[in-house]
Amino acid sequence: MSQKPFQLVDGNSGDASDLSVKEGTIGPAVMDVTRLYKEHGVFTFDPGFVSTASCESQITFIDGEKGILLYRGYPVEQLAKNSNYLEVCYLLLAGELPNAQQRETFAHSILHHTMINETLLRFFNGFHYNAHPMAMVSGVVGSMSAFYHDSMDIKNPEHREIFAHRIIAKMPTISAAAYKHSTGQPFVYPRNDLDYCSNLMHMFFAVPCEAYEVDPIAAEALDLLFILHADHEQNCSTSTVRLAGSSGTNPYAAIAAGVSALWGPAHGGANEAVLKMLEQIGTPDAIPKYIAKAKDKDDPFRLMGFGHRVYKNFDPRAKIIREMCHKVLDKLGRTDTPLFELALRLEEIALQDDYFVGKKLYPNVDFYSGIIYKALGIPKSMFTVMFAIARSVGWVAHWQEMIADPDRKIGRPRQLYTGPDRRDYLDIDKRA
Ligand code: SDX
Repeated sequence: MSQKPFQLVDGNSGDASDLSVKEGTIGPAVMDVTRLYKEHGVFTFDPGFVSTASCESQITFIDGEKGILLYRGYPVEQLAKNSNYLEVCYLLLAGELPNAQQRETFAHSILHHTMINETLLRFFNGFHYNAHPMAMVSGVVGSMSAFYHDSMDIKNPEHREIFAHRIIAKMPTISAAAYKHSTGQPFVYPRNDLDYCSNLMHMFFAVPCEAYEVDPIAAEALDLLFILHADHEQNCSTSTVRLAGSSGTNPYAAIAAGVSALWGPAHGGANEAVLKMLEQIGTPDAIPKYIAKAKDKDDPFRLMGFGHRVYKNFDPRAKIIREMCHKVLDKLGRTDTPLFELALRLEEIALQDDYFVGKKLYPNVDFYSGIIYKALGIPKSMFTVMFAIARSVGWVAHWQEMIADPDRKIGRPRQLYTGPDRRDYLDIDKRA
């Protein structure tokens, strides 16, 4: 049933006018307000963009009520079961699953462009030894525009593809360099004979003084986590990449802006915050105290890893990751799993509490991911970096979609001004 236009009745003049409605393939239609200010002299008001569609996109679809997540139409559950991260990268960028030849060519290109310029590598020596890895990653990603200026013509599709491959290929190397710098260990170069996630584990944990065998279980778990974190429509960091990119800045600067936005604890920084919260809670008998703190309006404490702007049902990714925790911990022979047991108990108690049920606050992607990262030996400070590696393809796909849009405009929202009206300058002797 096609949606009829909305009638807008001007409260002052009583004049009625139509606001046309645009419908998508699936999901809510949109009311087109592009002419609202020009024809009626008013803005819409939507802090945090709770009810605002900032763009048209064909990449990812989320149904928050039903807990559905589709990458180019494919359910994330099916991709998690049948695909791998580089194939999902191809899908998000190209819009279709690759055939065997396309998959091989794409994977070869990514896996053979993992090294970074040696001068860029030396940047890490300039960081304080205890710099947060996200500070190093955002700084070095932004600096890539000082090295790879041979392919920054954003109007050139070939340059846009080279940039896409470079970012996906080099994010694990940059992240591993940040990790090695924070440990004081020597940097480990990527290897072309390893798959994407095995290479990452190798660069993180190998040391020059002994052979290092990548645990295939760990690489497989990481690959699955990366698929689940690859894209999520217009989330905070992706919207940041689109807004920064809309000015025509170079793509590395736009991605660096996305890395910075992801770092916040309300967004990608939540996975690190969840582990800190679980360690703070400590034991199941302390759970009621923290549930009460989370419900207390006067207490800034929130249940990290719970709640979502879009999902008002289970985050489908959280369900898959929770199942993964069981498998990975069993396969790794982990019996010491108090934090996982605590997380399960915390979820169980919270979801019996009217506050969380009433506000539709369920575990999100960040609630269990840290349990797996920790089991793989990855330190808390690197959890958000792992998210950034995985999300890079989503940022790139949305940046490419925005840049290729013939109707692209620079993003420039307006405001409701409630500051002082016009007033004249006061000489110092006339001030209070
Ligand atoms: C990610 O957008 C994406 O897609 C993000 C992401 C992606 O893949 O890119 O999915 C990744 O960022 C997941 C979210 C990770 N963040 C956290 O886990 C941090 C904890 N969660 C909250 O900060 C919060 O739930 C947000 C930020 C995730 C969502 O915030 P909203 O949509 O702005 O909702 P809100 O803050 O207005 O909350 C609605 C109500 C409020 O109570 P009232 O003012 O209505 O009385 O729910 C309460 C909030 O106080 N609430 C919580 C809560 N989350 C919301 N109360 C306690 N604990 C929480 N975690």
